[in-house]
Amino acid sequence: MPSHFDPSTYKKIVFFTGAGMSAESGVPTFRGSGGIWREYRWQEYACQTAFDNDPEKVLDFHELRRREVLKCQPHAGHRVISALQQKFDHIRIITQNIDGMHQRAGNKNVIELHGSLWRVRCSTHGVWEDLSPTFTHRRCPHCQQWLRPDIVWFEDMLDEEDVQAAAYELETCDLFISIGTSARVWPAAGYPVIARRHGAWCVEINPEPTENKDLYQQVERGKAGAILPQLFGVNI
Ligand code: OAD
Repeated sequence: MPSHFDPSTYKKIVFFTGAGMSAESGVPTFRGSGGIWREYRWQEYACQTAFDNDPEKVLDFHELRRREVLKCQPHAGHRVISALQQKFDHIRIITQNIDGMHQRAGNKNVIELHGSLWRVRCSTHGVWEDLSPTFTHRRCPHCQQWLRPDIVWFEDMLDEEDVQAAAYELETCDLFISIGTSARVWPAAGYPVIARRHGAWCVEINPEPTENKDLYQQVERGKAGAILPQLFGVNI
């Protein structure tokens, strides 16, 4: 079991991140104690039906999340990935997170499987970025339809382009590092299986045991911000 990874000896490294990657920055996770879905019923805040029934309530919830995320800062784990990406161009990120923390840390090549809290979408006029703490427009300036957050909510389909892009990275990486996901949501829960089948060494970083732990050749029990600097021998 390698204790230190030398990125130059891999052809591609994929970091696959979940809410635990941002938890250390102070962004609440979804499940477990303090998890968002314990305080808020997703049926009222995070699905198309809820948005159709009460768009203002759903937008208020997402605005609250924007403000909370802006209070948080990237941590040492994010900085390790940035440092690696400055030196090597074969480092990819697939994230389930919508908070934009990777991008704020300067991380590149990020596939956002579940969309972004920082984009809005009109069903007629498309998607655009909106980085302000409160939504710049709640209705489309062109047609006055409600603008919905460009997030993959419960009961939504994943974006097919993102799914294909993620599959390509999984099938062509030789080091796969999963960080801070409870691995309860598909298809993400199957990602270590795909990466391993294609020959990748698979590592899980999580302070808690997960249902998927047996799919990994290497399990690191600890926080992302502590384990990532150790794994790559980067002092940050
Ligand atoms: P979860 O909240 O289900 O799981 C977070 C995981 O992070 C848990 O296994 C924790 O043990 C772990 N964790 C906590 N702190 C950590 C740390 N400092 N370092 C490493 N790991 C840590 O979040 P996800 O698996 O990301 O979807 O949830 C997947 C999806 O379900 C989310 O993207 C969200 C949710 O419904 C949407 O919003 C569309």
